Amino acid sequence: MAWASFAKLNAASSQWIGQQSFTQRTGSSSSTRFATRRVSVPIRAGAYTEELVKTAKTIASPGRGILAIDESNATCGKRLASIGLDNTETNRQAYRQLLLTTPGLGDYISGAILFEETLYQSTTDGKKFVDCLREEKIVPGIKVDKGLVPLPGSNNESWCQGLDGLASRSTEYYKQGARFAKWRTVVSIPCGPSALAVKEAAWGLARYAAISQDNGLVPIVEPEILLDGDHPIERTLEVAEKVWSEVFFYLAENNVVLEGILLKPSMVTPGAEHKEKASPETIAKYTLTMLKRRVPPAVPGIMFLSGGQSEVEATLNLNAMNQAPNPWHVSFSYARALQNTVLKTWQGRPENTEAAQKSLLVRAKANSLAQLGKYSAEGESEEAKKGMFVKGYTY
Ligand code: 13P
Repeated sequence: MAWASFAKLNAASSQWIGQQSFTQRTGSSSSTRFATRRVSVPIRAGAYTEELVKTAKTIASPGRGILAIDESNATCGKRLASIGLDNTETNRQAYRQLLLTTPGLGDYISGAILFEETLYQSTTDGKKFVDCLREEKIVPGIKVDKGLVPLPGSNNESWCQGLDGLASRSTEYYKQGARFAKWRTVVSIPCGPSALAVKEAAWGLARYAAISQDNGLVPIVEPEILLDGDHPIERTLEVAEKVWSEVFFYLAENNVVLEGILLKPSMVTPGAEHKEKASPETIAKYTLTMLKRRVPPAVPGIMFLSGGQSEVEATLNLNAMNQAPNPWHVSFSYARALQNTVLKTWQGRPENTEAAQKSLLVRAKANSLAQLGKYSAEGESEEAKKGMFVKGYTY
């Protein structure tokens, strides 16, 4: 109740700013004027506000983060091809089953982002994947965007599709057990970015966030600033600050309840082709500076993407960000940086399933320790140190 009325006030003040009505008390001995704020304005997330806040807090719980396995069928096909498997529904199901039935995964993972196909799939024994997750106390999530297409009028940039029909799709996803959503749009530094592309990315994210909250799904807000480029870290900082200020401007305009969202930013790093690499301490310093300047403490969790960093790099950077308390839970929502060694270990062979699950737990535990600021890279495998950056990567 408390949250509902708090959010109601927020909505009222942002939409009807300046429309306070002033009434003079009749029959009063004083001629004081009283301001009466209209608070009966319905809020977008009304019915679900308390649940959204609870879901977001569960995902942003100490020592846990998100396993992102929401690759589209085409991208999952690329992953499977890297170990010589065909891109069939059976192979995609087998791979996702391996990941989602890893015993003990819930000790380190609080949420799993699924692709639509996976949300409706079951294990070969007929147990729904969403039930496997719930048993481990992992919240099921769903990728809801429909991918990137060229943005006419821009500098070869893109925009993210998927708002049409999103409300009814989200209702169905909620019925199937999803409790959070993801929408990934990208911003390219070498392409500008143009003011148009940044505005479009921010507006699309805000509309998606409002629709998700209206249907009980905690929106993960992800404007991925791509690693591509040879620019220094200062340039990434400048672009990230611009992008996040626009995102929060439009989130506010759309009355999104900030206590019921999660962010998925890129870390602030030099461009992948820049002549010098930055240390985890430098990356942490720039990234936290940017976030502290742009992200209100009402937001419960920052769940970073890995963006092509190696598994070890992504974990070291996260660890560096958790050396001192932050206003928000600072954690991970990695795809490539949690899956690389797993895939290499599995090779599509049933006899390797257990070893592959163990390697997933190794990475999940390492990132859990990094969330708590207690990770050391000692004993990490060579495979885990290999970078995964792909120029112009599509997800
Ligand atoms: P990566 O961690 O591979 O960059 O994945 C990003 C993502 O958006 C997955 O949901």
